[in-house]
Amino acid sequence: MAFNPALLSSIFIVLSVFSAVTNALSLNYYDKSCPNVEQIVSNAVKKGKANDRTVPAALLRMHFHDCFIRGCDASVLLNSTSGNKAEKDGPPNISLHAFYVIDNAKKQVEASCPGVVSCADILAFAARDAVVQSGGPNWAVPKGRKDGRTSKASESVQLPGPTFNISQLQLSFFQRGLSLNDLVALSGGHTLGFAHCSSFQNRIYNFNATRDVDPTLRPSFAASLRNTCPIKNRPRNAGATMDSSSTIFDNTYFQLILQGKSLFSSDQALVSIPQTKGLVTKFASSNQAFSDAFVKSMIKMSNLNGGQEIRKDCRVVN
Ligand code: HEM
Ligand SMILES: *[C@@H]1O[C@H](CO)[C@@H](O)[C@H](O)[C@H]1NC(C)=O
Ligand SMILES: *[C@@H]1O[C@H](CO)[C@@H](O)[C@H](O)[C@H]1NC(C)=O
Ligand SMILES: *[C@@H]1O[C@H](CO)[C@@H](O)[C@H](O)[C@H]1NC(C)=O
Ligand SMILES: *[C@@H]1O[C@H](CO)[C@@H](O)[C@H](O)[C@H]1NC(C)=O
Repeated sequence: MAFNPALLSSIFIVLSVFSAVTNALSLNYYDKSCPNVEQIVSNAVKKGKANDRTVPAALLRMHFHDCFIRGCDASVLLNSTSGNKAEKDGPPNISLHAFYVIDNAKKQVEASCPGVVSCADILAFAARDAVVQSGGPNWAVPKGRKDGRTSKASESVQLPGPTFNISQLQLSFFQRGLSLNDLVALSGGHTLGFAHCSSFQNRIYNFNATRDVDPTLRPSFAASLRNTCPIKNRPRNAGATMDSSSTIFDNTYFQLILQGKSLFSSDQALVSIPQTKGLVTKFASSNQAFSDAFVKSMIKMSNLNGGQEIRKDCRVVN
């Protein structure tokens, strides 16, 4: 067989992710050692959201980024140091924010049960709370993750990008043990939050050699995006909300895909093959079906683990 570096490296990623799943998680992990931990985290998220309504979206995305690089080990929370540029300072970090909410939660958890709860678990709880507090489904989060000691900016390129097509998305999820069903359900996270123009620019200018605008975009929607994102004198933070109810966790995102009003090529890609298109259609017509699938896939994604310690400060290794 010919030497294929791309194949070898994807096999390596699969092996390293799976071999990292060493700690079996459980629902009662902190029952004795920190019984109030989930209440403390939920209050910290509530307080964060009251100050800034973009906090839930930020926390949900932060957990996704964490899990997709080295497993859910709080690698996304680590600060850069003099010798190392951390994951959060790598390229696709454009909307990562609200790290202080996790810091506040950790501080309060440490005051109540020092040295017991990992930052990775706190982030997993916070992502669930973000969904619940936005009107989405609730679920019991398996716990017992450990925090990792490595975070590299160079690894953030392993995240899927907004210009990915369906085969690239499928591979990215497959490498982490996640299926096409998980891809569609978890993409529903795009019911919350905001995207900068740079994330969907490819669809509204110079789409390809013959088309300026992606023809799968509804023309009126494309026109409004171009208006929001002018080429010249574009405001630095210009962009669009992910869906028309961007602080409410619901199935609107899937309805908008079917109307040609999704933001990213990677969102539109979900209707490019029958299997995923069928799920988009199902979730668009049933919020319950979406919620059930989202919960299942979130638990699967957030079970990827990789760490070895309980960090004292979520931004620095012990
Ligand atoms: C399927 C592959 C995915 C791609 C290519 C992708 C890409 C992106 C991009 C480019 C942004 C906008 C960044 C910006 O311009 O500011 C974004 C935002 C967001 N993503 Fe994803 N994402 C994916 C999957 C997910 C998953 C699995 C979740 C969670 C379950 C998620 C949750 C979010 C949220 C909540 C935001 C809004 C963040 C905010 O407003 O602060 N994404 N995503
Ligand atoms: C981590 O970085 C943030 C932002 O640059 C800074 O405010 C904070 O003090 C740093 N924390 C630690 C523990 O280094
Ligand atoms: C994102 O990464 C860039 C460099 O790639 C860095 O300058 C910037 O501070 C990072 N932003 C955040 C919010 O971490
Ligand atoms: C997706 O993109 C990759 C890389 O550009 C390309 O090789 C592949 O053929 C594309 N697949 C589809 C289904 O368009
Ligand atoms: C541009 O995109 C359209 C729509 O996807 C496609 O039909 C056309 O073949 C593409 N043109 C080129 C030159 O790739």
